[in-house]
Amino acid sequence: MGSVDNWITEFFIRRGWLFGQVLRAHRERGIEEARLIAVLLEKHGVSKGSRVIELGCGSGRISVPLAREGYRVTCLDISPGYIEEALEYAQNMGVRERVEGVVGDAWKVDEIVEGGYNAALMVWTTLIGYKGSPETDIELLSRIHRIIVPGGKLFILRHIDRDAIVTRNAQCRMDIIASDLGDLFVIEKPRFDPVTSILENTWIYYKKKGDELEYLDKQGFKIRIYTVTELIDIASKAGWKLEALYGSLNQDPFIPGRTSINAVLVAD
Ligand SMILES: C[S@@+](CC[C@H](N)C(=O)[O-])C[C@H]1O[C@@H](n2cnc3c(N)ncnc32)[C@H](O)[C@@H]1O
Repeated sequence: MGSVDNWITEFFIRRGWLFGQVLRAHRERGIEEARLIAVLLEKHGVSKGSRVIELGCGSGRISVPLAREGYRVTCLDISPGYIEEALEYAQNMGVRERVEGVVGDAWKVDEIVEGGYNAALMVWTTLIGYKGSPETDIELLSRIHRIIVPGGKLFILRHIDRDAIVTRNAQCRMDIIASDLGDLFVIEKPRFDPVTSILENTWIYYKKKGDELEYLDKQGFKIRIYTVTELIDIASKAGWKLEALYGSLNQDPFIPGRTSINAVLVAD
């Protein structure tokens, strides 16, 4: 675990139960997202029955319903608690035999899994930028490249776009963002440094008790964010070529500053 940055261990493992609640609150939505991802996979030649790996899969929000769509999914995450939950979810959804859970660091993925996957997925601003520099992201994408068959695909989906952060900052200064997540209320206090392109965020968690909010805890993260141009450049240095770019899982057009990045890349 030594190579993993401190905030990652703190956010997803030591206090992983906090973000775990956010993942659970988004589980229902994951079913629809996985359906759209299955459509996207098929469109880009990854047919049902293929072997796919989701890196940073959390508690299986996407991997498990994707297995229900007919894929054989390896669900890899650094957090043992999330993988345990993902396998329980797979069991409950009746797809346990199509989901393999792996606890491990994605930066070592080629040492952990056997390879020969038809596609890799990273969903919801996952892994890229987490170690803070383009060099570490090139390393991550190169390691993923090694476990994918020639001509196989990499899907970077619902990834944050630097231009979108800049636009949001210009419009509302992004001082505070509040999310109502069922039993949970989360306040975010993001800070973006335009020189380093580092987005720092503190999430403050409250439990809802009628009209009252009971303070639970807080946690922070720090990630490097990219424009789509920068992201595609980093990917190309790791052996990936852009095949398609969308603004959403619905395949809407990508609009810089307005949409998320949804990139389909092919192993060169
Ligand atoms: C923003 S969450 C997204 C979870 C999932 N993709 C989803 O859409 O529900 C990022 C995930 O990446 C995992 N993660 C962070 N660093 C990792 C690493 N070095 N190796 C593997 N997983 C990691 C976290 O534990 C967390 O589950």
